[in-house]
Amino acid sequence: MKATHFFISTLKEAPADAEVLSHKLMTRAGLIKRLGAGIYNYMPMGLRVIRKVEAIIRDEMNRAGAIELLMPVVQPAELWQETGRFDKMGPELLRVKDRHQRDFIVQPTSEEVITDIARQELRSYKQLPRNFYHIQTKFRDERRPRFGVMRGREFTMKDAYSFDRDRNGAAKSYDAMFKAYCSIFDRMGLRYRAVAADTGAIGGDLSHEFQVIADTGEDAIVYCPASDYAANIELAEAVPLLAQRAAARQALAKTPTPDRSTCADVADLLGLPLARTVKSLVLATDHRNDAGDVAKTTVWLLLVRGDHQLNEVKAGKVEGLKGGFRFATVAEIEAHFGCEPGYLGPIGTVQAVKVVADRTVALMSDFVCGANEADFHFTGVNWGRDLPEPDVVADIRNVVAGDPSPDGKGTLAIQRGIEVGHVFYLGTKYSAAMNATYLDESGKPQLMEMGCYGIGVTRILGAAIEQNHDERGIVWPDAIAPFTVAVCPIGYERSDAVRTAALTLHDTLAARGIDVVLDDRGERPGAMFADWELIGVPHRVVLSERGLKDGKVEYQGRRDAQATSVDVAGAADFVQGRLHRA
Ligand SMILES: Nc1ncnc2c1ncn2[C@@H]1O[C@H](COP(=O)(O)OP(=O)(O)O)[C@@H](O)[C@H]1O
Ligand SMILES: [Mg+2]
Repeated sequence: MKATHFFISTLKEAPADAEVLSHKLMTRAGLIKRLGAGIYNYMPMGLRVIRKVEAIIRDEMNRAGAIELLMPVVQPAELWQETGRFDKMGPELLRVKDRHQRDFIVQPTSEEVITDIARQELRSYKQLPRNFYHIQTKFRDERRPRFGVMRGREFTMKDAYSFDRDRNGAAKSYDAMFKAYCSIFDRMGLRYRAVAADTGAIGGDLSHEFQVIADTGEDAIVYCPASDYAANIELAEAVPLLAQRAAARQALAKTPTPDRSTCADVADLLGLPLARTVKSLVLATDHRNDAGDVAKTTVWLLLVRGDHQLNEVKAGKVEGLKGGFRFATVAEIEAHFGCEPGYLGPIGTVQAVKVVADRTVALMSDFVCGANEADFHFTGVNWGRDLPEPDVVADIRNVVAGDPSPDGKGTLAIQRGIEVGHVFYLGTKYSAAMNATYLDESGKPQLMEMGCYGIGVTRILGAAIEQNHDERGIVWPDAIAPFTVAVCPIGYERSDAVRTAALTLHDTLAARGIDVVLDDRGERPGAMFADWELIGVPHRVVLSERGLKDGKVEYQGRRDAQATSVDVAGAADFVQGRLHRA
């Protein structure tokens, strides 16, 4: 490819709305162009990367036995009404009407449509298992589209759906996809972790997120350096930090803590470690009558150690909170505790509240908590003596680095990641809702067991850049670079020797199937180099009249500190030897 036959458009300055580095670099390198909030044009340079990402995904999906089809972007609402998602999903789901005022949606994902296909096409156990996938445009009306293509509203996803006879079969399909995902991200040259994720109402342990490791990632990945334990922060189990409850040594005392409404301030004032304090969080659950009106509200007091954070996903698994909860209003708090937020605690509430203590809190003694009176805290608090045992003891906090690993093999560490893929066992959630059955050997209809498997195709671009960049620009892994090699002649127009050598090298590399671009734009060397460094082409060869007089060209890998002088005759072999074979 000659640069003049392609479209290159680089910018010196990043757009003002770009918050993260990958977004800035993608815009500056001319990979994307913003059209609206969370909506981007994929420019020719960016599309080359997308096509490479898709090719790797397609190849590995096919190899794993999945079968490609293509489902529509705009889908009739009827199917989404069958599963209830048309009403249940929030404003993320884009609903549109056609000219006949019929409801449609723009697909955020395709469980309904694929299940509709499966219930019509897969009638016998002989046709199972099956795994169908497509690579298609998605739309999610995200509340806060941001980070460029990493959280867009319109984006490209690969989504696959498996259909099996039973749970055992579904577990095998899941396993095949898990392995395929590992191959996909290995081939892309990305550093990633597969982490266990929450399965929500479905239960079980068949949900993993594939997270590209990057300091700027939105997600916290918990892992154990001494074992293979890895889970996202929502799921990672926080074990109790105390083996047993120590005997009480202090007397209960109401202590003035004027204007100290946070655990940190109270610990400071009292000269105690933060870990001796207990934080109170107030939730509420509404019980509705048949008409859907709130008949009764229960107020819950959740207790975590002062230096810990509440984990809302875990809280949502507590009996009584499973059906959904909200944070209590200030009025509800005052009615139950007789006190404003900031000085709340489990001792002497005005009205009954359900007390849920984190596992560690339940084992603490002589601790500090709010006194349900402004400007006062209790010290020397002990379960059983000063207040009843908690109603519920549960893991309701986020783990922190240094916590013991739940597998007992060392301590946990935390790093940041970007979720680029998700494999998920669905069970019969959709097949039951849509009556997708097959006939077993005895002719009896059985529900199909399903799994779904997503990869954020366009998000991968952002994630790869967050992981691989320097002060000059992007550093693409070979397998997904828009071009693998840039041939950069100095004096292409003026020097026959340079032009001939550059064309020969370009043609030789191209004939070997290497994705090479020849920069024939006639730019000054500085501008030319800056462009390819910004765009992130991983290999570069510079040809100059002076070098060619000695029969030399200069090779430089994008991460190399210095160029290497190479014989012009052997330049193609040399470059080829430097390529990362995926
Ligand atoms: N708004 C978005 N923009 C870009 N990619 C997205 C977006 N939402 C999801 N993805 C990608 O699609 C993959 C599958 O989506 P899914 O797991 O259903 O989404 P979520 O984790 O947001 O519920 C995710 O792992 C992610 O890589
Ligand atoms: Mg996900």
